[in-house]
Amino acid sequence: MKRIAVLTGGGDAPGLNAVIRAVTKTAINIYGCDVFGVLDGYDGFIAPNGILPLDLAAVRGILPRGGTILGTANRGNPFARKVMRDGQQVVIDVSDEVIKAIQELHLDAVIVIGGDGTLRVAMELCEKGVPVIGVPKTIDNDVGGTEVTFGFDTALMIATEALDRLHTTAEAHHRVMVLELMGRDAGFIALHSGVAGGADVILIPEIPFRYEAIFRKVRERAEGGAKFSLMAVSEGAKPVGGQEVFSRSGDAVYVPRLGGIGQEVGKYIESQGLEARVTVLGHLQRGGSPTAFDRWLATRYGAAAVRTAAQGGFGRMVALRDAKVIDIPISEALAVPKRVNLKGDAITTARGIGISFGDE
Ligand code: F6P
Repeated sequence: MKRIAVLTGGGDAPGLNAVIRAVTKTAINIYGCDVFGVLDGYDGFIAPNGILPLDLAAVRGILPRGGTILGTANRGNPFARKVMRDGQQVVIDVSDEVIKAIQELHLDAVIVIGGDGTLRVAMELCEKGVPVIGVPKTIDNDVGGTEVTFGFDTALMIATEALDRLHTTAEAHHRVMVLELMGRDAGFIALHSGVAGGADVILIPEIPFRYEAIFRKVRERAEGGAKFSLMAVSEGAKPVGGQEVFSRSGDAVYVPRLGGIGQEVGKYIESQGLEARVTVLGHLQRGGSPTAFDRWLATRYGAAAVRTAAQGGFGRMVALRDAKVIDIPISEALAVPKRVNLKGDAITTARGIGISFGDE
Protein backbone atom coordinates (compact mmCIF):
# COMPACT_ATOMS: atom_id res chain seq x y z
CA MET A 1 0.00 0.00 0.00
CA LYS A 2 1.61 3.20 -1.22
CA ARG A 3 -1.09 5.75 -1.92
CA ILE A 4 -4.22 6.23 0.11
CA ALA A 5 -7.04 8.81 0.00
CA VAL A 6 -9.59 9.87 2.58
CA LEU A 7 -12.92 11.67 2.12
CA THR A 8 -15.83 12.82 4.26
CA GLY A 9 -19.38 12.67 2.87
CA GLY A 10 -22.91 13.52 4.02
CA GLY A 11 -23.82 15.73 6.98
CA ASP A 12 -20.86 16.57 9.19
CA ALA A 13 -20.42 15.03 12.65
CA PRO A 14 -18.02 15.98 15.44
CA GLY A 15 -14.97 13.71 15.16
CA LEU A 16 -14.47 13.80 11.37
CA ASN A 17 -11.17 15.62 11.77
CA ALA A 18 -10.04 13.11 14.38
CA VAL A 19 -10.55 10.30 11.83
CA ILE A 20 -8.71 12.23 9.10
CA ARG A 21 -5.83 12.82 11.51
CA ALA A 22 -5.65 9.16 12.59
CA VAL A 23 -5.81 7.93 8.98
CA THR A 24 -3.03 10.31 7.91
CA LYS A 25 -0.74 9.61 10.87
CA THR A 26 -1.18 5.82 10.76
CA ALA A 27 -0.75 5.65 6.98
CA ILE A 28 2.44 7.73 7.13
CA ASN A 29 3.98 6.45 10.38
CA ILE A 30 3.25 2.74 10.01
CA TYR A 31 2.97 2.18 6.25
CA GLY A 32 5.01 5.03 4.75
CA CYS A 33 2.12 5.97 2.45
CA ASP A 34 1.42 9.12 0.49
CA VAL A 35 -1.92 10.39 1.78
CA PHE A 36 -4.46 12.52 -0.10
CA GLY A 37 -7.58 14.31 1.12
CA VAL A 38 -10.51 14.44 -1.30
CA LEU A 39 -12.41 17.72 -0.97
CA ASP A 40 -16.21 17.92 -0.56
CA GLY A 41 -17.01 14.21 -0.56
CA TYR A 42 -16.78 12.32 -3.86
CA ASP A 43 -16.98 15.65 -5.73
CA GLY A 44 -13.26 16.26 -5.11
CA PHE A 45 -12.31 13.43 -7.46
CA ILE A 46 -13.75 15.30 -10.44
CA ALA A 47 -13.49 18.94 -9.34
CA PRO A 48 -10.50 21.10 -10.34
CA ASN A 49 -8.01 21.15 -7.41
CA GLY A 50 -10.20 18.65 -5.55
CA ILE A 51 -7.29 16.62 -4.17
CA LEU A 52 -5.18 17.86 -1.26
CA PRO A 53 -1.93 16.10 -0.26
CA LEU A 54 -1.99 15.44 3.50
CA ASP A 55 1.17 15.25 5.57
CA LEU A 56 1.70 15.30 9.33
CA ALA A 57 1.74 19.11 9.37
CA ALA A 58 -1.62 19.28 7.55
CA VAL A 59 -3.39 17.37 10.34
CA ARG A 60 -1.64 19.07 13.26
CA GLY A 61 -4.08 20.73 15.69
CA ILE A 62 -7.27 19.40 14.10
CA LEU A 63 -8.17 16.79 16.75
CA PRO A 64 -10.53 19.04 18.78
CA ARG A 65 -11.98 20.85 15.77
CA GLY A 66 -15.56 20.30 14.61
CA GLY A 67 -16.54 20.15 10.93
CA THR A 68 -14.09 18.60 8.48
CA ILE A 69 -10.94 20.12 7.00
CA LEU A 70 -11.86 18.35 3.75
CA GLY A 71 -15.38 19.78 3.42
CA THR A 72 -18.35 17.55 2.76
CA ALA A 73 -21.39 17.33 0.49
CA ASN A 74 -24.75 15.74 1.11
CA ARG A 75 -25.77 15.90 -2.52
CA GLY A 76 -22.53 14.35 -3.69
CA ASN A 77 -23.74 10.98 -4.96
CA PRO A 78 -21.76 10.38 -8.18
CA PHE A 79 -24.44 7.93 -9.36
CA ALA A 80 -27.09 10.70 -9.20
CA ARG A 81 -25.70 14.16 -9.68
CA LYS A 82 -27.86 17.20 -10.42
CA VAL A 83 -26.52 19.37 -13.24
CA MET A 84 -27.89 22.03 -15.62
CA ARG A 85 -28.15 20.96 -19.30
CA ASP A 86 -29.64 23.38 -21.86
CA GLY A 87 -31.26 25.40 -19.07
CA GLN A 88 -32.84 22.25 -17.58
CA GLN A 89 -31.94 20.51 -14.35
CA VAL A 90 -31.09 16.85 -15.01
CA VAL A 91 -29.71 14.01 -12.90
CA ILE A 92 -26.71 12.22 -14.39
CA ASP A 93 -24.35 9.36 -13.42
CA VAL A 94 -20.72 10.52 -13.14
CA SER A 95 -19.45 7.42 -11.33
CA ASP A 96 -17.24 6.38 -14.27
CA GLU A 97 -15.49 9.76 -14.14
CA VAL A 98 -14.89 9.28 -10.41
CA ILE A 99 -13.50 5.78 -11.00
CA LYS A 100 -11.23 7.08 -13.78
CA ALA A 101 -9.90 9.79 -11.47
CA ILE A 102 -9.20 7.22 -8.75
CA GLN A 103 -7.32 5.06 -11.25
CA GLU A 104 -5.30 8.02 -12.52
CA LEU A 105 -4.32 8.87 -8.94
CA HIS A 106 -3.05 5.25 -8.56
CA LEU A 107 -4.81 4.94 -5.23
CA ASP A 108 -4.38 1.66 -3.36
CA ALA A 109 -7.20 2.50 -0.94
CA VAL A 110 -9.94 5.09 -0.45
CA ILE A 111 -11.14 5.58 3.13
CA VAL A 112 -14.75 6.79 3.01
CA ILE A 113 -16.08 8.40 6.19
CA GLY A 114 -19.86 8.68 6.00
CA GLY A 115 -23.36 7.70 7.02
CA ASP A 116 -25.64 5.27 5.21
CA GLY A 117 -25.91 7.33 1.97
CA THR A 118 -22.16 7.86 1.57
CA LEU A 119 -21.43 4.24 2.54
CA ARG A 120 -23.95 2.95 0.00
CA VAL A 121 -22.10 4.86 -2.72
CA ALA A 122 -18.83 3.40 -1.38
CA MET A 123 -20.25 -0.10 -1.69
CA GLU A 124 -21.41 0.53 -5.26
CA LEU A 125 -17.98 1.94 -6.19
CA CYS A 126 -16.37 -1.12 -4.58
CA GLU A 127 -18.55 -3.36 -6.76
CA LYS A 128 -17.04 -1.47 -9.73
CA GLY A 129 -13.51 -2.21 -8.51
CA VAL A 130 -12.65 0.74 -6.25
CA PRO A 131 -10.70 -0.36 -3.14
CA VAL A 132 -12.84 1.31 -0.44
CA ILE A 133 -12.93 0.99 3.33
CA GLY A 134 -15.86 2.55 5.24
CA VAL A 135 -15.87 4.45 8.52
CA PRO A 136 -19.35 4.94 10.05
CA LYS A 137 -20.23 8.51 10.98
CA THR A 138 -23.43 10.23 12.02
CA ILE A 139 -24.86 12.00 15.02
CA ASP A 140 -28.03 9.93 14.44
CA ASN A 141 -26.29 6.65 15.41
CA ASP A 142 -28.44 4.84 12.83
CA VAL A 143 -25.79 2.88 10.91
CA GLY A 144 -26.25 -0.88 11.33
CA GLY A 145 -23.56 -3.33 12.39
CA THR A 146 -21.88 -1.01 14.87
CA GLU A 147 -22.86 -0.23 18.45
CA VAL A 148 -22.11 3.42 17.97
CA THR A 149 -21.06 5.95 15.36
CA PHE A 150 -18.75 8.81 16.31
CA GLY A 151 -20.53 12.17 16.59
CA PHE A 152 -23.44 10.69 18.52
CA ASP A 153 -21.90 11.26 21.94
CA THR A 154 -21.26 14.94 21.21
CA ALA A 155 -24.81 15.48 19.92
CA LEU A 156 -26.08 13.78 23.05
CA MET A 157 -24.08 16.04 25.30
CA ILE A 158 -25.41 19.16 23.56
CA ALA A 159 -29.01 17.90 23.63
CA THR A 160 -28.71 17.03 27.33
CA GLU A 161 -27.31 20.44 28.15
CA ALA A 162 -30.21 22.04 26.24
CA LEU A 163 -32.69 20.00 28.29
CA ASP A 164 -30.94 21.06 31.52
CA ARG A 165 -31.28 24.70 30.48
CA LEU A 166 -34.91 24.32 29.43
CA HIS A 167 -35.63 22.60 32.75
CA THR A 168 -34.86 25.68 34.87
CA THR A 169 -36.86 28.09 32.72
CA ALA A 170 -39.76 25.60 32.46
CA GLU A 171 -39.87 25.37 36.24
CA ALA A 172 -39.64 29.14 36.71
CA HIS A 173 -42.57 29.85 34.36
CA HIS A 174 -44.68 26.72 35.00
CA ARG A 175 -44.53 25.91 31.31
CA VAL A 176 -44.27 22.91 29.05
CA MET A 177 -40.99 23.09 27.17
CA VAL A 178 -40.66 21.05 23.97
CA LEU A 179 -37.21 20.35 22.50
CA GLU A 180 -37.14 19.07 18.92
CA LEU A 181 -34.04 17.00 18.23
CA MET A 182 -32.36 15.52 15.14
CA GLY A 183 -32.02 11.82 14.38
CA ARG A 184 -34.03 11.28 11.18
CA ASP A 185 -35.88 7.94 11.50
CA ALA A 186 -34.00 6.85 14.62
CA GLY A 187 -34.81 8.05 18.12
CA PHE A 188 -31.42 7.57 19.77
CA ILE A 189 -30.63 11.27 20.37
CA ALA A 190 -34.05 12.00 21.92
CA LEU A 191 -34.10 8.79 23.95
CA HIS A 192 -30.60 9.02 25.40
CA SER A 193 -30.63 12.78 26.03
CA GLY A 194 -34.22 12.61 27.28
CA VAL A 195 -33.20 10.10 29.93
CA ALA A 196 -29.96 11.96 30.73
CA GLY A 197 -31.71 15.35 30.82
CA GLY A 198 -34.73 14.29 32.87
CA ALA A 199 -37.45 14.65 30.21
CA ASP A 200 -40.98 13.72 31.27
CA VAL A 201 -42.06 12.82 27.74
CA ILE A 202 -39.87 11.39 24.98
CA LEU A 203 -41.26 10.99 21.48
CA ILE A 204 -39.30 8.84 19.03
CA PRO A 205 -40.02 7.59 15.50
CA GLU A 206 -40.05 3.97 16.67
CA ILE A 207 -43.06 4.57 18.98
CA PRO A 208 -46.00 6.40 17.37
CA PHE A 209 -47.65 8.60 20.00
CA ARG A 210 -51.11 9.93 20.89
CA TYR A 211 -51.49 13.61 21.71
CA GLU A 212 -53.99 12.78 24.48
CA ALA A 213 -51.43 10.50 26.14
CA ILE A 214 -48.81 13.25 26.16
CA PHE A 215 -51.23 15.66 27.73
CA ARG A 216 -52.31 13.06 30.30
CA LYS A 217 -48.69 12.87 31.48
CA VAL A 218 -48.50 16.67 31.82
CA ARG A 219 -51.79 16.69 33.77
CA GLU A 220 -50.66 13.87 36.08
CA ARG A 221 -47.52 15.80 36.86
CA ALA A 222 -49.53 18.93 37.61
CA GLU A 223 -51.79 16.92 39.92
CA GLY A 224 -48.67 15.64 41.67
CA GLY A 225 -47.46 19.19 42.23
CA ALA A 226 -45.04 19.58 39.30
CA LYS A 227 -46.30 22.60 37.39
CA PHE A 228 -43.96 22.18 34.44
CA SER A 229 -42.98 19.45 31.98
CA LEU A 230 -40.07 18.80 29.69
CA MET A 231 -40.38 16.97 26.35
CA ALA A 232 -37.64 15.57 24.09
CA VAL A 233 -39.12 15.09 20.63
CA SER A 234 -37.34 13.39 17.72
CA GLU A 235 -37.77 15.19 14.42
CA GLY A 236 -39.03 11.87 13.00
CA ALA A 237 -41.70 11.27 15.68
CA LYS A 238 -45.24 10.82 14.40
CA PRO A 239 -48.71 10.32 15.87
CA VAL A 240 -50.46 6.94 15.65
CA GLY A 241 -51.94 6.70 12.15
CA GLY A 242 -50.29 10.00 11.17
CA GLN A 243 -47.30 11.09 9.14
CA GLU A 244 -43.91 12.59 9.90
CA VAL A 245 -43.68 16.37 9.52
CA PHE A 246 -41.33 17.64 6.79
CA SER A 247 -40.00 21.13 6.33
CA ARG A 248 -38.94 20.40 2.75
CA SER A 249 -39.87 17.64 0.32
CA GLY A 250 -37.26 15.49 -1.37
CA ASP A 251 -36.38 14.61 -4.97
CA ALA A 252 -34.01 12.34 -6.88
CA VAL A 253 -31.01 13.95 -5.16
CA TYR A 254 -32.23 15.60 -1.93
CA VAL A 255 -33.67 13.48 0.85
CA PRO A 256 -36.77 15.14 2.36
CA ARG A 257 -35.94 17.33 5.37
CA LEU A 258 -37.73 16.49 8.61
CA GLY A 259 -38.84 19.30 10.92
CA GLY A 260 -41.92 20.74 12.56
CA ILE A 261 -43.26 18.01 14.83
CA GLY A 262 -42.12 19.99 17.91
CA GLN A 263 -44.38 22.89 16.87
CA GLU A 264 -47.31 20.49 16.41
CA VAL A 265 -46.82 19.12 19.92
CA GLY A 266 -46.50 22.64 21.36
CA LYS A 267 -49.68 23.73 19.55
CA TYR A 268 -51.61 20.79 20.97
CA ILE A 269 -50.49 21.55 24.54
CA GLU A 270 -51.57 25.19 24.12
CA SER A 271 -54.91 24.08 22.67
CA GLN A 272 -55.46 22.29 25.99
CA GLY A 273 -55.00 25.54 27.88
CA LEU A 274 -51.38 25.26 29.04
CA GLU A 275 -48.48 27.46 28.07
CA ALA A 276 -45.87 25.76 25.87
CA ARG A 277 -42.66 26.88 24.20
CA VAL A 278 -40.80 25.02 21.46
CA THR A 279 -37.06 24.97 20.82
CA VAL A 280 -35.56 23.37 17.72
CA LEU A 281 -31.95 22.51 18.56
CA GLY A 282 -31.02 21.93 14.91
CA HIS A 283 -27.43 22.05 13.71
CA LEU A 284 -26.06 23.00 17.12
CA GLN A 285 -26.12 19.23 17.62
CA ARG A 286 -23.57 18.79 14.82
CA GLY A 287 -21.25 21.74 15.22
CA GLY A 288 -18.29 22.34 17.49
CA SER A 289 -15.69 20.30 19.27
CA PRO A 290 -16.14 16.52 19.73
CA THR A 291 -16.33 14.98 23.20
CA ALA A 292 -13.41 12.91 24.49
CA PHE A 293 -15.38 9.73 23.68
CA ASP A 294 -15.94 10.80 20.07
CA ARG A 295 -12.26 11.74 19.64
CA TRP A 296 -11.24 8.37 21.09
CA LEU A 297 -13.66 6.39 18.91
CA ALA A 298 -12.90 8.43 15.77
CA THR A 299 -9.15 7.95 16.27
CA ARG A 300 -9.55 4.19 16.73
CA TYR A 301 -11.81 3.98 13.66
CA GLY A 302 -9.34 5.93 11.50
CA ALA A 303 -6.35 3.83 12.52
CA ALA A 304 -8.32 0.57 12.13
CA ALA A 305 -9.51 1.63 8.66
CA VAL A 306 -5.88 1.98 7.51
CA ARG A 307 -4.96 -1.42 9.00
CA THR A 308 -7.96 -2.98 7.24
CA ALA A 309 -6.86 -1.39 3.95
CA ALA A 310 -3.32 -2.75 4.43
CA GLN A 311 -4.80 -6.23 4.82
CA GLY A 312 -6.78 -5.78 1.59
CA GLY A 313 -10.16 -5.75 3.36
CA PHE A 314 -11.90 -3.72 0.67
CA GLY A 315 -15.66 -3.32 0.84
CA ARG A 316 -15.47 -3.52 4.63
CA MET A 317 -16.40 -1.00 7.33
CA VAL A 318 -14.88 -0.56 10.77
CA ALA A 319 -17.36 -0.99 13.61
CA LEU A 320 -17.55 -1.15 17.39
CA ARG A 321 -18.76 -4.36 19.02
CA ASP A 322 -18.32 -5.28 22.67
CA ALA A 323 -15.99 -2.28 23.00
CA LYS A 324 -13.66 -3.70 20.30
CA VAL A 325 -13.06 -2.17 16.88
CA ILE A 326 -13.68 -4.84 14.24
CA ASP A 327 -14.45 -4.75 10.53
CA ILE A 328 -17.57 -6.04 8.77
CA PRO A 329 -18.81 -5.99 5.15
CA ILE A 330 -20.34 -2.58 4.31
CA SER A 331 -23.28 -4.53 2.87
CA GLU A 332 -23.94 -6.03 6.32
CA ALA A 333 -23.94 -2.57 7.92
CA LEU A 334 -26.41 -1.28 5.34
CA ALA A 335 -28.69 -4.32 5.25
CA VAL A 336 -30.74 -3.27 8.28
CA PRO A 337 -30.68 0.35 9.50
CA LYS A 338 -30.23 0.61 13.27
CA ARG A 339 -33.27 1.68 15.28
CA VAL A 340 -34.07 1.91 18.97
CA ASN A 341 -34.67 -1.58 20.35
CA LEU A 342 -38.13 -1.39 21.83
CA LYS A 343 -37.44 -4.44 23.98
CA GLY A 344 -34.05 -3.15 25.19
CA ASP A 345 -33.21 -1.96 28.67
CA ALA A 346 -33.14 1.75 27.67
CA ILE A 347 -36.88 1.82 26.97
CA THR A 348 -37.66 -0.34 30.02
CA THR A 349 -35.54 1.92 32.20
CA ALA A 350 -37.19 5.07 30.86
CA ARG A 351 -40.69 3.70 31.42
CA GLY A 352 -39.69 2.49 34.89
CA ILE A 353 -38.65 5.96 35.99
CA GLY A 354 -41.96 7.40 34.79
CA ILE A 355 -41.08 8.75 31.34
CA SER A 356 -43.99 8.67 28.90
CA PHE A 357 -43.51 7.76 25.24
CA GLY A 358 -47.01 8.98 24.51
CA ASP A 359 -48.28 5.48 23.78
CA GLU A 360 -50.05 4.51 27.00
O1 F6P B 1 -28.13 12.76 9.46
C1 F6P B 1 -27.70 13.82 10.23
C2 F6P B 1 -28.73 14.92 10.26
O2 F6P B 1 -28.23 15.93 11.11
C3 F6P B 1 -30.13 14.47 10.65
O3 F6P B 1 -30.27 14.28 12.03
C4 F6P B 1 -30.95 15.61 10.09
O4 F6P B 1 -32.26 15.19 9.79
C5 F6P B 1 -30.22 15.95 8.82
O5 F6P B 1 -28.89 15.48 8.97
C6 F6P B 1 -30.19 17.43 8.51
O6 F6P B 1 -29.55 17.58 7.29
P1 F6P B 1 -29.10 19.00 6.69
O7 F6P B 1 -27.74 19.27 7.21
O8 F6P B 1 -29.12 18.76 5.23
O9 F6P B 1 -30.08 20.03 7.16
